[in-house]
Amino acid sequence: MIKIGVIISGRGSNLQAIIDAVELGKIPAQVAVVISNNPKAYGLEWAKKHNIPTKVYEPKKFPDKNTYELEIVKTLRAHQVDLVCLAGYMRIVGEPLLQQYFGKMINIHPALLPSFPGLHSQKQALDYGAKVSGVTVHFVDEGCDTGPIILQTAVPVMQDDTEETLSARILEQEHKLYPEAIKLFAEGKLKIEGRKVKIL
Ligand code: GRF
Repeated sequence: MIKIGVIISGRGSNLQAIIDAVELGKIPAQVAVVISNNPKAYGLEWAKKHNIPTKVYEPKKFPDKNTYELEIVKTLRAHQVDLVCLAGYMRIVGEPLLQQYFGKMINIHPALLPSFPGLHSQKQALDYGAKVSGVTVHFVDEGCDTGPIILQTAVPVMQDDTEETLSARILEQEHKLYPEAIKLFAEGKLKIEGRKVKIL
């Protein structure tokens, strides 16, 4: 059974999906700690309801990004975390986290990468006129949504979609895909080979 650390910034619906999958025994894992950079993140309440330890680290309270991230690394290590899941974490990961967790840190993105990286991916897809968008779970590297891809699901873009309706259709798939990817990692079935992730 592996230990997961989840890092959030807001709503935390992916965190909820992960906790649900763990509690239903779908993933051989335990959520050991939830960390947020935002004290108001709703996901923190959800974690507390499930008796999961939480920590808040506000970047502005640290002299620089390195010191901030080192504190996060310290907490993850204290909880003996094997896998870090970014779930709506709104900051680019820096050197301390990457050094400690490259190959053990994954993220979920609401588009089919490499299309529409960064913020507001659903709006980007709509504005571009894409007919298909989707969800990507990938390992985190030093870029913005550029790491090796683990799993993807395609989601159709409808003609009358708004950012809200498309986001909702994509989110439904996010909640299925993230636990699936975590399960593969927990079972030791993911192997990174350069840009590619082999599923064993
Ligand atoms: C999700 O759409 C996720 O793909 C993106 O940020 C959003 C977070 O939602 N990275 P939530 O906090 O998990 O509800």
